[in-house]
Amino acid sequence: MKKLLVLYYSRSGNTEKMAKALAEGAQSSGNVEVQYSYHVDADDLALFDALAVGAPTYNHAMPVDFKNLFEEAGAKGLNLKGKLGVAFGSYGWSGEAPKLVLEILKNRFEMQIIEPPLLAKYTPDQNALAACNDLGKKISETLMNTP
Ligand SMILES: Cc1cc2nc3c(=O)[nH]c(=O)nc-3n(C[C@H](O)[C@H](O)[C@H](O)COP(=O)(O)O)c2cc1C
Repeated sequence: MKKLLVLYYSRSGNTEKMAKALAEGAQSSGNVEVQYSYHVDADDLALFDALAVGAPTYNHAMPVDFKNLFEEAGAKGLNLKGKLGVAFGSYGWSGEAPKLVLEILKNRFEMQIIEPPLLAKYTPDQNALAACNDLGKKISETLMNTP
């Protein structure tokens, strides 16, 4: 079975709600094993077929944990080429974090990414949660159609 990591950071719970909805969407197909996590060791990134990163924007940046994680993965020469990557996150006014994450997944790790990143302003409403759920389903469909 293909494996998806839903990795997220959330201080006030907004991105966490998005992460849960995405994970539920991916799980609903029954075809994908989903790990849902706040933290992962850099080496473990290679164990997954897809990576969904939930990054809220604070001070126009991505969470420092993710920045460090990607730097460590890059320094270790981790091979993530061709794996599927998406990014999402809650924001207030500028919302850079998910875009920065996708740029790294695409350009540094040569992952196959689904664009654009999925953003929700502050607390995700029903529409935003439905979009997260759909993105989860899309990830599982894409994984099923990838050899
Ligand atoms: C100290 C602080 C800094 C923030 N900086 C930004 C910012 O630069 N750009 C932005 O779009 N939102 C910013 N926000 C808004 C958060 O992204 C927003 O509250 C979001 O819902 C937090 O998501 P979370 O609950 O998943 O942590 C900031 C919020 C706080 C409290």
